[in-house]
Amino acid sequence: MMCGIFGCILKNGDAAPIIHAALKRLEYRGYDSVGEVTIHEGKLFIKKDQGKIDEVHAIHNLDDLPGRIGIGHTRWATHGAPYEVNAHPHTDCNGQIAVVHNGIIENFSELKKELEERGHVFRSKTDTEVISHIIEEELKEGRALAEAVYSAVEQLEGSYAIAVVSAKEPNKIVCARKESPLVVGVAENAVYFASDIPAFLPLTNTAVIVEDGELVVLDDKGYEIRKLADGSLVSRKPEVIDWSPEMAEKKGYPHFMLKEIHEQPLCLRNTLRLQEQYLDLMTTFLDRAGEVFLVACGTSYHACLAASYMFSKLSMLATHPIIASEFVEQHGRAINIDSVLLAVSQSGETADTLEAVECARQRAATVLGLTNIIGSTLTRVARAYVCQQSGPEIGVAATKTFTSQLSVLSQLALRLAKKRGKVSHVEIEQLEEKLEQIPDIVEKVIETQEEKIKQLAKKYRDKQCFFFLGRGVSSASALEGRLKLLEIAYAPALAFPAGESKHGPISLIEPGFPVIFVCPKDDTRKTIVGNIMEMKARGASIIAVVEEGDEEVKGLADDYIEIPRGMPEVLSPIPYVIPQQLFAYYMAVERNCDPDQPRNLAKSVTVK
Ligand code: M6R
Repeated sequence: MMCGIFGCILKNGDAAPIIHAALKRLEYRGYDSVGEVTIHEGKLFIKKDQGKIDEVHAIHNLDDLPGRIGIGHTRWATHGAPYEVNAHPHTDCNGQIAVVHNGIIENFSELKKELEERGHVFRSKTDTEVISHIIEEELKEGRALAEAVYSAVEQLEGSYAIAVVSAKEPNKIVCARKESPLVVGVAENAVYFASDIPAFLPLTNTAVIVEDGELVVLDDKGYEIRKLADGSLVSRKPEVIDWSPEMAEKKGYPHFMLKEIHEQPLCLRNTLRLQEQYLDLMTTFLDRAGEVFLVACGTSYHACLAASYMFSKLSMLATHPIIASEFVEQHGRAINIDSVLLAVSQSGETADTLEAVECARQRAATVLGLTNIIGSTLTRVARAYVCQQSGPEIGVAATKTFTSQLSVLSQLALRLAKKRGKVSHVEIEQLEEKLEQIPDIVEKVIETQEEKIKQLAKKYRDKQCFFFLGRGVSSASALEGRLKLLEIAYAPALAFPAGESKHGPISLIEPGFPVIFVCPKDDTRKTIVGNIMEMKARGASIIAVVEEGDEEVKGLADDYIEIPRGMPEVLSPIPYVIPQQLFAYYMAVERNCDPDQPRNLAKSVTVK
């Protein structure tokens, strides 16, 4: 879903080196394959391959393509493994049209089937290729390129930022946008488009933001924007961007972590667009399993822990969430052909998780994977896997990938519930509806609570130690809040199910000790109020993450952060973890720690 796209029309000179350099600046959006197409003397010239940009350049020389017009793509695989055939651009049957795309076309299977019935021959396994063939059909009807793109996107469901060139109209690039980002850059001797401003920032700081549902035609005269809804002309003046290249890469945010926290609504929208057949396949394996182990490390383990509540409550499936580095010792000899191991790993490369997977494979258990990286080791060794579609996460602290994992796991639990007929249709429909609303809810939490959390970090910055407590599924999000805080702000912190505090940890409490309670209004709330009272009686400072309007808990707390009402219990970890991520981030900033690169840690831990 991430991917980077770029293109240019120059008055003079060669487009290819400019595209190559711009794609390098977009590499943080994806880097498993790369491609470019230029137009020269009415012909398309294409170079593309799998691998990072530098690797592909070393083999193919990406600067060596003729023409002053071209488009390019750096890929983050969503549909189709990162192989040369799946690299963009994708062409039509005759090699006359080329398309680059960032996003996910949800209805591509249906469209592909129809197009194949009409004789179109597909070369790749991507969702994108349907776009070039649809445009081919539209051009056959006698339409001009812009009109053809216009009619083509009307047939697409999903998200996209696309750019199209045609050998028949060699002086134009046509782009369209729905949800995926698109910007136009304007210079005296050139016009550019890109997924993100950093791509063209060294060339021009004059940009036009393309809005959702707009189509843009670039040519030698500049740019023209129209609304996709009714074709009406949009008049939008360029703005001057005063970001440094480094700031631009972070979209103006001071750190990747903050950018990634803010990307969560978009990522969650993408995880709602997963291909049904992959989810169904995983559900079938889970349904048939004799026993299910949910295996992962760190943040991914917390997603597994939350998932164990989801599977139990919704699908009546008991699962064992296990920290991967303990799996072999704890269960290695007990698993067998009837066991299913669902490995959850953002990177798909974590050594501890892969060791557990290997152990399961040797004992003929079924291995399933949930990962963010197509082509990772996990995707190669799993019997079936789902890619969570979060795009590259640069900050070492997992944030957007955690909430996406939760979204995918809740979708699996819901599917299994349906399959097993354990939950009423009405309840399933309500949960599905809420799941659809979660991206907006998360957006609202960020919008309304961020400033308050920033102030809380100022208030609590010098505290020596923190507790994070929750009950039920919220104990998983409390554990995650604690991991974020200690990992990036180096603040010692403890977390456990709130009921455990009276079995030992409460002895640490003294006046002013900060205790963060994660307390949605679910079945556990009554009991957690008791736990809050216990802490308060010993002088603890209570910071509560509560449901909007929960006056009782607000009245008990020294500080509170509010989450919109009506969150079903099993989905609550998604919005309830957001304030904890923001708190950790602002605490790190307050304590002068680098949130993106905490000491002693790496993004992907490939040693045991
Ligand atoms: O790539 P993985 O999901 O397998 O990584 C697991 C952990 O290393 C990771 O979640 C780690 O705990 C993060 N730094 C947490 O923010």
